[in-house]
Amino acid sequence: MQNDIKEVLYSEEQIGAKVRELGAQLSADFEGRNPLVICVLKGAFIFMSDLVKTITVPLEIDFMAVSSYGASTKSSGVVKIIKDLDVTVEGRDVLIVEDIIDSGLTLSYLIDVLEHRGSKSVTIVTLFDKPARRTVDLQPHYKGFTLPDEFVVGYGLDYAEKYRNLPYIGILKPQVYEK
Ligand code: PRP
Ligand code: MN
Ligand code: MG
Repeated sequence: MQNDIKEVLYSEEQIGAKVRELGAQLSADFEGRNPLVICVLKGAFIFMSDLVKTITVPLEIDFMAVSSYGASTKSSGVVKIIKDLDVTVEGRDVLIVEDIIDSGLTLSYLIDVLEHRGSKSVTIVTLFDKPARRTVDLQPHYKGFTLPDEFVVGYGLDYAEKYRNLPYIGILKPQVYEK
């Protein structure tokens, strides 16, 4: 698996330090707000579990799984909810946890859904951001690292469902997806 990686962009240690930094900021900003922390499956599962351990204020967690209907519909922003929340967001301060923002379509759809359901506020934290790929106007409130426009995997991010378990994030060798 390691042989498929061209270059490690951020090591496990660098990611860990950044996650703790984000956790400290979120702990201060969400004091007394009992946020509902939502993990966007599958990619965000590792970041979510590491991040919540560094947040020191009371919170609740829930999960959503979303997917595009296909390559052609993704560009139109049509996203399908595969697994919905178990709880209502009405009146809640919601914190959405994402692994990466690319075009921004997944998150802009989710923000819309949660606002329509009457959440009190919707805040975005993403570990990685690829602003070069954005097609909608969307800025995360909190972000870990800005990435170049390269095919990256690891720390939750997949290529064809593989590599999510790598503890670091790295650039995939082009020969892996060109074959
Ligand atoms: C990836 C990633 C984000 C989304 C970002 O998820 O985890 O959720 O794409 O892309 P966007 O900003 O262009 O919408 P993916 O749809 O691959 O599902 P996964 O999390 O299960 O891998
Ligand atoms: Mn995802
Ligand atoms: Mg994916």
